[in-house]
Amino acid sequence: MEKLSIEDMAVFCKRKGFVYPNSEIYGGFSGFWDFGHLGVELKNNIKNEWWNYHVTQREDIVGIDGSIITHPKVWEASGHVANFTDLMLTTKKTKTKIRADQFIEEKLNIAADGLTSEEINKLIKKHKLKHNGEDIEELKDFNLMFETSVGPDKGQTAFLRPETAQLIFTDFRLVVDNARLKLPFGIAQIGKGFRNEISPRDFLFRCREFDMMEIEYFVHPDKDECPLIREVLNYELNFYSAEMQEKGKKPLIMKVKDALRRNMISEWHAYWLAVEQKWFTDLGAKSENFRVRQHLKKEKSHYALDTWDLEYNFPFGWKELEGIANRTDFDLQQHMQASGKDLRIYDEETKDKIIPHVIAEPSLGVERAFLVFMFDAYVYDKKRNNVVLKLNPKLAPVKVAVFPLVSNKPQLTKKAIEVYSNLKKYFNVFYDESGSIGRRYARQDEIGTPLCITIDFDSIKKNDVTIRDRNSTKQIRVKIKDLGHKIWEYMNGVKFEKLGKTILK
Ligand code: GAP
Repeated sequence: MEKLSIEDMAVFCKRKGFVYPNSEIYGGFSGFWDFGHLGVELKNNIKNEWWNYHVTQREDIVGIDGSIITHPKVWEASGHVANFTDLMLTTKKTKTKIRADQFIEEKLNIAADGLTSEEINKLIKKHKLKHNGEDIEELKDFNLMFETSVGPDKGQTAFLRPETAQLIFTDFRLVVDNARLKLPFGIAQIGKGFRNEISPRDFLFRCREFDMMEIEYFVHPDKDECPLIREVLNYELNFYSAEMQEKGKKPLIMKVKDALRRNMISEWHAYWLAVEQKWFTDLGAKSENFRVRQHLKKEKSHYALDTWDLEYNFPFGWKELEGIANRTDFDLQQHMQASGKDLRIYDEETKDKIIPHVIAEPSLGVERAFLVFMFDAYVYDKKRNNVVLKLNPKLAPVKVAVFPLVSNKPQLTKKAIEVYSNLKKYFNVFYDESGSIGRRYARQDEIGTPLCITIDFDSIKKNDVTIRDRNSTKQIRVKIKDLGHKIWEYMNGVKFEKLGKTILK
């Protein structure tokens, strides 16, 4: 089936109450989006699932929640004031601003990430490139951090954070001491990030305000073997190393152990890429839409020794979904120097003070994850002549819908409202009595509700209900008293058919 375009996805999300253009009544505000009554549920579920998998279920990672505005010196020390820039083109006549690498990519169909201003200038001259018939006037660095001021009158200039990561470094000693962390360990955070993108585009893919889910994973500077690698040795990834890209080769699907044997990737990088892709696929994303691509030298951020991206095959091509950088001790060193504070930790084994290295920084935007789950769940079902959003039950905004078979029989509606009110204490449940049963099923299929419960005349006599499965449309009969734990089992991976006796449709 052909993938939905990003524009069609934006239309679907708006029509169904997932995502709205921000301040649409004033014409919208480029790069900003609002989440509707279903979108906020899906977004919260993504964040909760991420936290559960990366923090709650692990023994080696704890979380923090740092503030959005922080001391301006943080961003000087981290290098963001000097280096967090994109090259921007300005056109001669209308003074239109365009992101230079995107302009080159679109005009010449080549990868332009990381090109220097000289290289871009040369290409513009060589190919006599114009934008909508206009000449390019100027090419300059543009810092992506939003400025604000803190305190009365003009106050002190500060920045909205462009990444959550720096708060992990500035709080590092406090977290390590209070949580009594021992290497290797991680510190995780979910929160808003802000980037004054030159050209926000592709719906939620590139926005100016977004949520980030980040981990700084610290190891001993002299120990680069990964004690957890055994967990992922047989996991398959679609590898695309820098060497493969330089030699014009295609990406290759192989097991982690084979990539390690070929010295293509470090153990820690392979471990984190596998763990991250698994998080997506366990929640229903399709593994064939993922690949892992190493950054070329010129693409790497100012702080990174090596970076691999988890990429996803978006309708507009393979793009970064999540970056995993080896930041070494760059940030802790910078903050030690700038603050004059000792951020080293005591190593029991060597009885020495050391500066741990960030061997991997898995960093993922919630909005990009949102798109992945929506694209991989969206199916147009010809037989049903309807969209079926096959979201994993853990992510689905509404878990269960409850219907009386007909709405004009008080004994049915009374029983249905009773079932609905009981389940609502534990799950996000929706009650609907309007329209035919078929129409009510179709409305729930479109928004991804995995289970629909119908109360009929037998329910009054036998205290049982029909549950219908979104994906297969199969139906089973279940006692009302068992509903709570059956739904819970289903949410936690038990197959629909195992929940009760199948009945004819
Ligand atoms: N701390 C590392 C860091 O910030 P990054 O590659 O610049 O690395 C991390 O960003 C992730 O944040 C990206 O992989 C992407 O998922 C998300 N992201 C970055 N810029 C974004 C934008 N303008 N809109 C939506 N998501 C964005």
